[in-house]
Amino acid sequence: MFARFVVPTRASAARFAATQYRFASTKSLRDTLKDIIPAKQEQLKKLKTEHGQTVVGDVKVENIIGGMRGLKAMLWDASVLDPIEGIRFHGLSIPDCQKVLPPAPGGKEIIPESMLWLLLTGQVPTSEQTRQLSRELAEKGDLPKFVEQLVDELPKTLHPMTQLGIGVAALNHDSAFQAAYEKGMKKTEYWAPTLEDCLNLIARLPALAARIYRNVYKPGTELPAINKDLDLVGNYTNMLGYGSNQNLTEYLRLYIALHGDHEGGNASAHTAHLVGSTLSDPYLSYSAALFALAGPLHGLANQEVLRWQLAMQQELGDKITHDDIRDYLWKTLKSGQVVPGYGHGVLRNPDPRFIALQEFCQARPELKESPIVQLVNKTFEVAPDVLKEHGKTKNPYPNVDATSGCVLYHYGLTEFKYYTVIFGVSRALGALTQLVWARALGLPIERPKSLSLDALEELIKNQKQ
Ligand SMILES: CC(C)(COP(=O)(O)OP(=O)(O)OC[C@H]1O[C@@H](n2cnc3c(N)ncnc32)[C@H](O)[C@@H]1OP(=O)(O)O)[C@@H](O)C(=O)NCCC(=O)NCCS
Repeated sequence: MFARFVVPTRASAARFAATQYRFASTKSLRDTLKDIIPAKQEQLKKLKTEHGQTVVGDVKVENIIGGMRGLKAMLWDASVLDPIEGIRFHGLSIPDCQKVLPPAPGGKEIIPESMLWLLLTGQVPTSEQTRQLSRELAEKGDLPKFVEQLVDELPKTLHPMTQLGIGVAALNHDSAFQAAYEKGMKKTEYWAPTLEDCLNLIARLPALAARIYRNVYKPGTELPAINKDLDLVGNYTNMLGYGSNQNLTEYLRLYIALHGDHEGGNASAHTAHLVGSTLSDPYLSYSAALFALAGPLHGLANQEVLRWQLAMQQELGDKITHDDIRDYLWKTLKSGQVVPGYGHGVLRNPDPRFIALQEFCQARPELKESPIVQLVNKTFEVAPDVLKEHGKTKNPYPNVDATSGCVLYHYGLTEFKYYTVIFGVSRALGALTQLVWARALGLPIERPKSLSLDALEELIKNQKQ
């Protein structure tokens, strides 16, 4: 049995055809990484020694005062975001991934395990390799008792994202990286305990996230034990209490796999990278990332979208026309608020993740007929034109959050304050992959140079002279 190896791609990964693989062996995840790390280290060394002084772009004042938008200043290998085409994972577009990444037994959708394998190694795993990873994660998935007690003691009124961040930080009690660092290890060895921490954390996220859900929304109900024969999301949905709903399980597999990575500059991924660059362990680094994800301009947008669409539904009633939606959009904009689920820091087209989730809905009659799914679709038919007319947003199209919550809502997972937690379970795939590679490549602590307003003015004055 052979895995397919993705041909390394360059900037125009775009033109990558999903058929261009070469065969690779059936190694374990750790052995695969051991094989490919030296070549990447060599690639980095060559870039550093031979091209260290090559200019990549200009830094303009607008970059400095505009949240570093568009600055090419970060190394992130697993995915690249093209403004028009959207995300590619090691060169594979979302439709490519849907064709080649193994699903769960009996399922059709991509699962986080196959996406994680692709992100970490650049290779498409076999079904067997994916199964093995699922089993390993299930075996590692139980929370330490003290973390269960800690989370159980938190006030139920504390936002679920805050609870998730606290729980993840506390898991660093068992950090393999921290223990090995304290004992003393060579820099070249950092990546191995980092990988162990990352796999442990990904394995434990479903139990932690489901425990928070049960504590806050279904207090007193039993949490089922982890089933070693189920994949990560199969167990997650089961622990949430929706295990009998195969459609919801499939949706969550797709959603969590697709949300896993969106290159490095987004706030949560970047936070994990920044904190990790101090050699803080993966638990602390990812905990910090979760608090970035908890902001309404980033991960919390999926909660905000649903709140906004439900308020629209409540105000306008059951028979909502395009004109009604247009008026509602203008009302939102005129009140100085953003339209949640629309716009993006990089994308300049509808988000392909939005399209993939929409296609999931269109393929299922019960979702096609769901009033909330229909409302999201109708909003999509109107909002881009309104946002274009409004004239501020650089990208008037929907991002993934425009649609991610409505399916959960339709299937009865209606507690939308919880939605960003699901995103938090997902984003670990990409952020933690990068931590492994940052250690394998020996990347340094991040330390950009900042300038004061006066210093900027001085610089401009000097350039004019
Ligand atoms: C995602 C987002 C934060 C990107 O921000 P950005 O890169 O600064 O976006 P732009 O460069 O297009 O912003 C230019 C202007 O348009 C506004 N704008 C952007 N998206 C908007 C939206 N959906 N509704 C109304 N106004 C919007 C910005 O607030 C900004 O206004 P300002 O000049 O008064 O400050 C922004 O589009 C947004 O707030 N969207 C809604 C929240 C959301 O869906 N977040 C999830 C992202 S995956």
